[in-house]
Amino acid sequence: MSEWFDFTTKEACQPGHPIVKAINGHPIALFNLNGEYYAIEDSCPHQGLPLSDGPVLGNEIICPYHGARFCIKTGEVTAPPAYEDLPTFEVRIIEGMIQVKV
Ligand code: FES
Repeated sequence: MSEWFDFTTKEACQPGHPIVKAINGHPIALFNLNGEYYAIEDSCPHQGLPLSDGPVLGNEIICPYHGARFCIKTGEVTAPPAYEDLPTFEVRIIEGMIQVKV
């Protein structure tokens, strides 16, 4: 069953600086894209390495290891060598606290 978890505050999550946390065994990266917040699993489906150190280009994150690309908003893979989409997590804001449903 999914639950909402406090992740971080709005002030702490700035564009270009994802916040990473592990919740219930899921490494999760939270991104601020122009004031909208998105949470994806921080594990590249290609080799299971963390994505969050990679550069963000528009709405995409580029895996720093072999260059796969993913849409941060939808988790969709947009360039190889990964071929699977990323799990995404619902996000909500309660009184300045960003919560993620895991
Ligand atoms: S681990 Fe991400 S592209 Fe290889």
